Amino acid sequence: MDVQIAVLDYGSQYSQLIVRRVRELGYYAKLYSPESLPTLKNLSGIILSGGPSSVSDADAPDVNFEVLQALNLPVLGVCYGMQLLNQKFGGNLKPGTTSEYGPAKLRIQDDSTLFNGVEENSQIWMSHSDTVATLPEGAKILARNEEGQPVSLQFKENWFGIQFHPEVTHSHDGRQVLKNYLQCLDTEPEFDVEAFKQEILKEIVEEVGDREVVCGVSGGVDSTVLAVLLHKAGVKIHPIFVDNGLLRKNEVEEVQAQFKEVGVEIDTVDASDRFLDALEGESDPEKKRKIIGNMFLDVFFSHAGDIQLFAQGTLYPDVIESATSGSKASVIKTHHNRVNRVMELKAEGKVLEPLSELFKDEVRALGRSMGVPERALNRHPFPGPGLAVRCPGMITREKLDILREADDIFTSTLLRTGWYDKIWQACTTILPSKSVGVKGDVRAYEFPISLRAVISEDAMTADWVEIPYPILREISNKILNGVKGVNRVLFDISTKPPASIEWE
Ligand code: XMP
Repeated sequence: MDVQIAVLDYGSQYSQLIVRRVRELGYYAKLYSPESLPTLKNLSGIILSGGPSSVSDADAPDVNFEVLQALNLPVLGVCYGMQLLNQKFGGNLKPGTTSEYGPAKLRIQDDSTLFNGVEENSQIWMSHSDTVATLPEGAKILARNEEGQPVSLQFKENWFGIQFHPEVTHSHDGRQVLKNYLQCLDTEPEFDVEAFKQEILKEIVEEVGDREVVCGVSGGVDSTVLAVLLHKAGVKIHPIFVDNGLLRKNEVEEVQAQFKEVGVEIDTVDASDRFLDALEGESDPEKKRKIIGNMFLDVFFSHAGDIQLFAQGTLYPDVIESATSGSKASVIKTHHNRVNRVMELKAEGKVLEPLSELFKDEVRALGRSMGVPERALNRHPFPGPGLAVRCPGMITREKLDILREADDIFTSTLLRTGWYDKIWQACTTILPSKSVGVKGDVRAYEFPISLRAVISEDAMTADWVEIPYPILREISNKILNGVKGVNRVLFDISTKPPASIEWE
């Protein structure tokens, strides 16, 4: 499948979102650095993203205008992209008197294709400081904001610029604007999960041949879809599931059952004693993480033996992040997906990443189309180090048992009451210091349990969820009455930032 739309990335935090929106509208889009434009083939359209720079900066990122013109495809410049096009066509910009961030109203000036079906006065979302001073010859203004400044230009046939962000939901008719632009292409929408699945399956078969593919499974969405996909491709697979002793109540059995349901046989390695023995007495959070991370690699790779091919569930955002930014998130991901052993295998051409073109919601759709159970697809994120990050301080088997019981009550109640699917991630944590309580007329020192439920888009920020009091009361009563060793239940009402999602 050829990429239909190249989104040239000028560094906006929303660049990935443009790609997602275009795919949602059925066109296969990918993000590229502006420099790669001359190497791209068989495109149907080009979108220039927004970005933090000003076109008048000395080192402002550029576009190869000769190549862009020679391609003669429909072009959409968004924000910085529009300003860049304006400059290239010979127009001028001036720094805005005030930076414009947030909502504005769209005043449509010209009935062009770009604003077909878009409401006059509909809300648009701005995030820029430069404005257009003079128009290039032949260009016309398609829309303004309520202050009369141009927010959309047409440079020539099928070449448009918009100063607002159509990709964010705060631009109420943004989707329609993108759709109108896409209708200028001379190709039809080709991107859907079914077509993509067939393509990935074919690629897997070709790449794998008769080699055996080793992959790790955790029960999470990405590794589950990956293993099922390999299984559907009909190649030889060895899916390894490491029980690190830090999993939730019945998790091993549930993950096994989940795979059985889709006909995939997984190889469970019980390494729980090795992990828990190694963690004994350690209370430093980073040392705990290191012990678990290293032990996992040890157990996994020694169990896998000689690897012919190793598959991992790297997703498109991970690929973009590692390639285009030095953000904290990318460092974390790099740590997980690019550890030394994997780097060695990569150098030998032995790493397969069949999901690396897909976003998370597309991976879910792919899983759904292959019969992966909904409960697996909608599972909350669960950290690699498992319950270790929910057991701050020293980890003991006793504390883990208490935590498992409390977490099971929390999760099962959320599932039963329909709240689980409204929550992005729910966590139960056992706090390290005991607190006083009264049990059977005597003072008893027992553990406090903290419950946390958040909504988030990408884990970088999070807000706590207002679970109704009666449900919280039910959970608290069940934990206090049913879990030995707990005499206090807390509900965490901290946003991220400043708090993180996990306690450790
Ligand atoms: P924080 O606690 O940093 O968590 O707000 C953000 C997201 O990342 C998960 N998390 C981890 N995942 N290894 C992982 O694989 C880790 O060490 C780790 N720490 C946090 C967390 O559950 C949340 O989804």
